[in-house]
Amino acid sequence: MSRITGAREFYGRRFLVDPHALDPRPDTESLIEGALELVERNGWRKRPLELLDLGTGTGCILITLLAELPQATGLGTDISSGALALAAANARRLGVADRTSFIAGDWLEAIAGEFDLILANPPYLAASEIAPLSKEVAEFDPRRALDGGRDGLDAYRRIAARAGQVLAPTGRILVEIGATRAEAVAGILRGAGLRLDEAQGIRPDLAGRPRSVMAGM
Ligand SMILES: C[S@@+](CC[C@H](N)C(=O)[O-])C[C@H]1O[C@@H](n2cnc3c(N)ncnc32)[C@H](O)[C@@H]1O
Repeated sequence: MSRITGAREFYGRRFLVDPHALDPRPDTESLIEGALELVERNGWRKRPLELLDLGTGTGCILITLLAELPQATGLGTDISSGALALAAANARRLGVADRTSFIAGDWLEAIAGEFDLILANPPYLAASEIAPLSKEVAEFDPRRALDGGRDGLDAYRRIAARAGQVLAPTGRILVEIGATRAEAVAGILRGAGLRLDEAQGIRPDLAGRPRSVMAGM
């Protein structure tokens, strides 16, 4: 339906959608809740936070957080220039364009800086999981938004390998995961020298399934 109307509601806001980007999923709202809980817990709401959203797609994660956190600024990246154009249009429509930049890139390869919060909902389906997907998903979402390589974990490995270089000392990385991959993703982050948060290391969604992993230095 969203492909016909050209828009999708996410965390109470309407985002333009098109074939260049993943149609935002309700599951991903749990990443927003995790990020906002972290901000409250650490007393960061009034701080000028620097956010980085890897694989921004429609921009739904970054733009929502910038709208919720008026002191924050953010950088969104994607390998798809079509997705970046869509995300920039969404940032303008939702009134956060003056605090947002977008650049094309391959995960963290060209990123420099110190970010308080790195967010990512990377492609996390294994090759064998893509073929049987419903027609709706397989036909409308771009393959590079879904395909996580042989075991679905390629993007996590790439991101984890460089995350420590761009995290502020008190910064956190928060990644969405497929429900069966919590331990695997936690292991990748630990293997890259990051520490899982005690309270929020592996976070469940509203249905009680593991949905995101948070770690820091
Ligand atoms: C699962 S989608 C998530 C989109 C959006 N963040 C969301 O949550 O709805 C993954 C995104 O990662 C992007 N992507 C895939 N490979 C990438 C790479 N090597 N570097 C940067 N972004 C990439 C895709 O183009 C896609 O927009």
